[in-house]
Amino acid sequence: MNMNVILDQFPILSVPENGKRLIYLDNAATSFKPLSVLKAVDDYYRMDNANPHRGVYTLGVRSTDIHENARQTAARFINADPEEIIFTQNATEALNLIAYSYGMEFLRKGDEILISVAEHHSNLVPWQRVARLTGSKLVYLYPGSDGGITEEELDQKINTRTKLIAIAHVSNVLGTEAPVKSIVARARQCGAAVVLDCAQSVSHMPIDVKELGVDFAAFSGHKMYAPMGIGVLYGKKELLEEMPPFLSGGDMIASVHEQTVSYAEVPRRFEAGTRNVGGEAGLAAAMEYITSIGWDSIRNHEHVLMDQMLSGLNALPYVTVYGSTDSRDRFGVISFNVEGVHPHDTATILDSEGIAVRAGHHCAQPLMEYMGIGSCVRASIAIYNTEEDISVFLNSLKQVRRWMGYGA
Ligand code: ALA
Repeated sequence: MNMNVILDQFPILSVPENGKRLIYLDNAATSFKPLSVLKAVDDYYRMDNANPHRGVYTLGVRSTDIHENARQTAARFINADPEEIIFTQNATEALNLIAYSYGMEFLRKGDEILISVAEHHSNLVPWQRVARLTGSKLVYLYPGSDGGITEEELDQKINTRTKLIAIAHVSNVLGTEAPVKSIVARARQCGAAVVLDCAQSVSHMPIDVKELGVDFAAFSGHKMYAPMGIGVLYGKKELLEEMPPFLSGGDMIASVHEQTVSYAEVPRRFEAGTRNVGGEAGLAAAMEYITSIGWDSIRNHEHVLMDQMLSGLNALPYVTVYGSTDSRDRFGVISFNVEGVHPHDTATILDSEGIAVRAGHHCAQPLMEYMGIGSCVRASIAIYNTEEDISVFLNSLKQVRRWMGYGA
């Protein structure tokens, strides 16, 4: 990977923060956008803006083509069929769609919904609601100290009552990959549907939904170099076809009469209202950008950075790192605390050096409770981070306790 070429693609990286060169390590919250993505969005609004699936005029057809071509690009990117791709605002909306249109429809009293205690709230709170409204039960998987979920834990929690398993592909706090193949194999035996929250994996590893064998997958564009406000829900066609709409309105119908309606085929049944075609154009450009760099290059580069960051943090006796001590188990994020220093203080001190990290509960409060902490600091990487970024971050972190009045 030629880092100079990559860095040139991200104009925001040349805007100083607090008079310093920006070192952005909050990529798990959102990523920056390369020039090709900015251009795709700009071009759409400059030259192609019209409501898709409505106007029969040339401009309208062009907008429809951009919308449907983006669907094809998204389908190729995760090895799905285009009819299995539904555009949403983000992963949260995609997960809510599954919760409402699948969970509310097909779960019954006594059924079990299995999630992990490490879920982001967007893959947890919707299932709490489904459980409450359907009388089903929410059951939790608990990771070991290395952040991984063991086969024994899966054996204990998956049974004939399990009807839906919803799990983060990669935890937004621990960076650990879920044992998807083991989960899917067990789910097939008990007839449970598997929902994979790919929000934190989609920019770090290739997603092949057919190979993974999951029933649904969800991700946001904005964590993978695409704009905010665009996301993807993948669903197996045979399941989507059985599901009622989530939102109702324009363009999701076959016909409407005063008292009755018949719905459009999938995926349009789930795409009510005017779509975010500019965002879809940006998402397609982001997918093409990732593909042009190549997963091997991305994985190698990110592994070097994760290794450097993890060994640097492990060498500091006053830093507690959460999750695996092996950087090969980590995808994109490392969470930690500095002894005696509140995470917000650590983040604020780093910010004064131009370093952006996230501090707080990371929308994963049950995981914080399980780990016995209120909050932590999280550093998360993307393709444009460099070894120098990580060195500056580690050196600045060494000053944090001194800033707070400790000897070292
Ligand atoms: N879900 C994003 C995060 O984990 C915002 O930071």
